[in-house]
Amino acid sequence: MKHDMILVLDFGGQYCHLIARRIRENSVYSEIAPCDITPSQLAGMQEEHNVMGIILSGGPSSIYEKDAPQLDVKILDSGLPVLGICYGHQLLAHRLRGRVVEAKRKEFGIASAEVAGGSVLLKGLSPREQVWMSHGDTVLKPPEGSTVIATTDNCPVAAFQDEKRRIYGVQWHPEVVHTTNGETILRNFIFGICGCRPDWKVGDLVEQYVNGVRAAVKGQRAIIALSGGIDSSTAGAIAARAIGRNLTAVFIDNGLMRENEPEQISDMARALGITYVHVDARARFLEKLKGIADPEQKRKAIGNEFIRVFEEEAEKVGARYLIQGTIYPDRIESGISKKSRVIKTHHNVGGLPETMKFAGLVEPLKELYKDEVRKVASRLGLPKEMVNRQPFPGPGLAVRIVGEVTSEKIGIVRKADAIVTDEIAAAGLNDLPWQYFAVLTDTKSTGVKGDSRSYGSVIAIRAVGSKDAMTAEFSRIPYGVLERISTRITNEIADAVRVVYDITNKPPSTIEWE
Ligand code: XMP
Repeated sequence: MKHDMILVLDFGGQYCHLIARRIRENSVYSEIAPCDITPSQLAGMQEEHNVMGIILSGGPSSIYEKDAPQLDVKILDSGLPVLGICYGHQLLAHRLRGRVVEAKRKEFGIASAEVAGGSVLLKGLSPREQVWMSHGDTVLKPPEGSTVIATTDNCPVAAFQDEKRRIYGVQWHPEVVHTTNGETILRNFIFGICGCRPDWKVGDLVEQYVNGVRAAVKGQRAIIALSGGIDSSTAGAIAARAIGRNLTAVFIDNGLMRENEPEQISDMARALGITYVHVDARARFLEKLKGIADPEQKRKAIGNEFIRVFEEEAEKVGARYLIQGTIYPDRIESGISKKSRVIKTHHNVGGLPETMKFAGLVEPLKELYKDEVRKVASRLGLPKEMVNRQPFPGPGLAVRIVGEVTSEKIGIVRKADAIVTDEIAAAGLNDLPWQYFAVLTDTKSTGVKGDSRSYGSVIAIRAVGSKDAMTAEFSRIPYGVLERISTRITNEIADAVRVVYDITNKPPSTIEWE
């Protein structure tokens, strides 16, 4: 079934994903594409989806910069409604004979907009509205043929409309919560202007995905690597439903997993009726990690060994198809959007090499964000602990040990991680952080244990809130909880003498330490 879709063109804005997610939250499917998509690429998309409207995202550039991202204006002749946000708003004015001036100073934060009545885009808004702005250049004259529908003290054209051509622009960001009625504006665009049907409900997609896998695998054998994470587990559960005994799931224990994780994976696979092979590869991975201190080299070593073990298993099974739990942000990071930059090479099961001889690759979750995968997982009856499990990096505890990995260090960080998890769970926080874990630093420090001086490791605690791991902020964990974590770590782990709490956001930091 073809779903109605809103296409978001990425001009490099940090809120690009947020726009797509807000639209999906309204049960309308949305995808992100590079800003310079051509009319023929758009036509290609129309074959898969009913593209009903286009949103041009914000971005950090000035339209007057030499390499400012451009729009193929022929896209505007498609007749589809278009909404420009921030940079998108300026670009429309610039390209359609309006006037944009370069910034004297940047405007950043909350502003008050004066809203004209009678516009479909701003229907339901009050004459004065709180909006959130972050821009340099300013539109002084709207595109030819359009009218101004909102102003602020600094922006004479804070929003415009060309009802005939169905082209709209807002200088502010409707997708962020600080714009009080931002959701109303997006809903006005997707339903009132584009006429989308709210036909994309994640929970209803299970049958579609199951049928999709069955059709793709064509009665042959398929294999999937279970990592213990929500993505591969959900893909595995869908595949098991689709092809039953023709599926073999391989779980490779690399010795870098969290406490009790291998047992939990086995239990889950059994409960879901997934045929699976458990490969104990702990010694092999440890051997490959010997002497390596550099994080990227660790990732590479782990990734390569993973492939080797997986290849051996695939050969035994004689599988023709490879099923993967790739999700939408994985594809964005690996370059379907030009504007995203890879900061770390993420080894996960999505990194298997093309040289592996499979007749095809099947990725049932490739259009979903993480929270959407969780909804599908609930529908499939995956255990609650699995559904709510925090993301865990493919290279596992290896990237939570700064420097060389040894079995002793794995033991320390695993135990510390279990304490963090226990205490956060016991604290009954209203909102659980997106991720919370311990890191074994390579710093040694002095302490007093009992009556004597001790010299041992510093453990760092990291807890962050995030929506999609692209940005994150450190969680304000109550001091009492942090104190219990610190006391338990220093009491229960002989080598640990000091515990520190990481208070950096991403950016400038990343979530993991390595
Ligand atoms: P960073 O540290 O880049 O992490 O802010 C963003 C998200 O990705 C996870 N992560 C990884 N996942 N392989 C993975 O599969 C990796 O090598 C890797 N490194 C980081 C991290 O846990 C966070 O959720």
